[in-house]
Amino acid sequence: MKLLRENRSHSAGIMAVCVLMMMMMMMMMMMVFGCVKGSSPRLALEKSLVWPSKDTQCVHMLKHLHHGARITVQMPPNIQGHWVSTSCEVRPGPEFITRSYRFFHNNTFQAHQFYYTDNQCTAPSHTLLIRGRVRLRQASWIVRGGTEADYQIHGMRVVCHSASVARELSQRLKHSCRDPGSWLPNVSYELWSDEGDCGCICALNVSMHELQLLRLEKQYLHHSLDQLLEELYLGDIHTEAAQRMLYRPSSYQPALQNTQNQDLSCVVCRIVSRSDEFHPAVLPPRPELTVTLSGQWASRRCEVRPEVLFLTRHFIFHDDNHTWEGHYYHYSDPACRHPTFSLFARGHYSRGPRSTRVMGGTDFEFRVSHMRVTPMDLATVSLLNVFKGNSCGAQGSWQVGVEQDVTPTNGCAALGLRLPHTEYELFRLERDAAGRLLLFNGQRPSDGSSPDRPDRRPTSYQTPLVQCSAGGQRSEVSAAQRLSNGGRPRYHGDLATAAAAVLWSLAFMGFLG
Ligand SMILES: *[C@@H]1O[C@H](CO)[C@@H](O)[C@H](O)[C@H]1NC(C)=O
Ligand SMILES: *[C@@H]1O[C@H](CO)[C@@H](O)[C@H](O)[C@H]1NC(C)=O
Ligand SMILES: *[C@@H]1O[C@H](CO)[C@@H](O)[C@H](O)[C@H]1NC(C)=O
Ligand SMILES: *[C@@H]1O[C@H](CO)[C@@H](O)[C@H](O)[C@H]1NC(C)=O
Repeated sequence: MKLLRENRSHSAGIMAVCVLMMMMMMMMMMMVFGCVKGSSPRLALEKSLVWPSKDTQCVHMLKHLHHGARITVQMPPNIQGHWVSTSCEVRPGPEFITRSYRFFHNNTFQAHQFYYTDNQCTAPSHTLLIRGRVRLRQASWIVRGGTEADYQIHGMRVVCHSASVARELSQRLKHSCRDPGSWLPNVSYELWSDEGDCGCICALNVSMHELQLLRLEKQYLHHSLDQLLEELYLGDIHTEAAQRMLYRPSSYQPALQNTQNQDLSCVVCRIVSRSDEFHPAVLPPRPELTVTLSGQWASRRCEVRPEVLFLTRHFIFHDDNHTWEGHYYHYSDPACRHPTFSLFARGHYSRGPRSTRVMGGTDFEFRVSHMRVTPMDLATVSLLNVFKGNSCGAQGSWQVGVEQDVTPTNGCAALGLRLPHTEYELFRLERDAAGRLLLFNGQRPSDGSSPDRPDRRPTSYQTPLVQCSAGGQRSEVSAAQRLSNGGRPRYHGDLATAAAAVLWSLAFMGFLG
């Protein structure tokens, strides 16, 4: 353990030096190609050299992502094996769950879903055991980088882990499927068989639609060839219970990890992999961290959103005056290599109480008052220039790589971004195995709407950001801009989703019309 740490900090030092050198080279190239707009190249170079090391970390992380990291994607994926959750996952509702899925050589699967009454997954309520068959189909046309699949359920069993849960569940099922009688804890009951209708399953709102979209990523950890990490991403769950049974996934849930080449630091993986329906995974309690946003946070990976969005994010929060800024780098590809546009947004935020709906979460309100847009490819430029009137910057003036302030035009109608805008947010803070702080903000409504009313506040989270600098004093706008050879910003989620959705539909209109 200690050895590993030392190795890491050593290589971090080397990497920091490399990053500096790479940035200098990049700046020089930019000067040569005349890409640095609006500020003298000399000034930009100086700035890059005087960044405090803590800022360099944020830049490094984004840059690393822009270059696609060291991740390889297997297509079609070979999913045979045993895959488990790496943490207590929060699904819309909220539901607290861990998963242990086995895929066999004969295309059958066996999925354990452990449900809990608490946000740390320390108190199991019930476990579902779902058996069926899954068949991989073609590469997804909707979500690039994903593979589509079909599945069938052959059987589903439930075990309740307390007398009260058994009472409650059997009560709930009474009206929807044939009367299950009164259930006992620690006894496995059949919910589904080939002949059965969906009554019981539908009453529980359980679906395995997550198997309709898969993505398998492999990467070698710590630059060593002997530690392979395999992560299986399955489709996302609709944020509204009523839509769950109908929704075809268009993004992903947190990844499952292959138990065969286990990351030794993943304690949760080990616990979940040893569990079954009679011995559900019980995770060790962790200290609940108070959410303090102060500092800088950046994406750990190229993120995927519903509506065909790939992006990375970088946030800076100032707790002292409650202001924030966000940089959203949007891409057209799942490796975040081909930038389409970037957004910069800023405004105020206020902290609310601890969530009464989502255990472990804290409510926040975000206001967006300023926004700037930088188109990064010709397609986006033409789309923006097509718009008539002054509804998005100066009409017809957009150019690749040139930022415009769209605050005076109250946002950008072309991107579906209106100012001022308020979003009702949910946050939570956690530490990863290496002790770094992870910031989770709310999952956006799957229907593409904005959480702009308190009743639309999220009940689950999106991919976390990692803290890359503890202090929030310096703005990193210029650094981020220079890096924006990849990116699109994305408004705390929703704004950008709307933006990209519009852009994409525009893109299609443009091509077809
Ligand atoms: C598929 O393989 C699994 C594991 O080897 C086995 O338990 C199961 O019975 C097989 N199913 C069929 C339909 O062959
Ligand atoms: C269920 O089984 C587990 C282990 O087999 C046991 O520890 C627990 O007390 C049982 N619970 C009930 C309610 O019988
Ligand atoms: C299942 O979904 C329906 C809406 O279709 C909702 O009214 C019900 O509360 C949900 N049940 C559970 C157990 O979440
Ligand atoms: C808030 O504080 C930060 C530094 O702490 C500063 O850079 C920023 O300009 C301030 N914003 C406003 C609106 O006062």
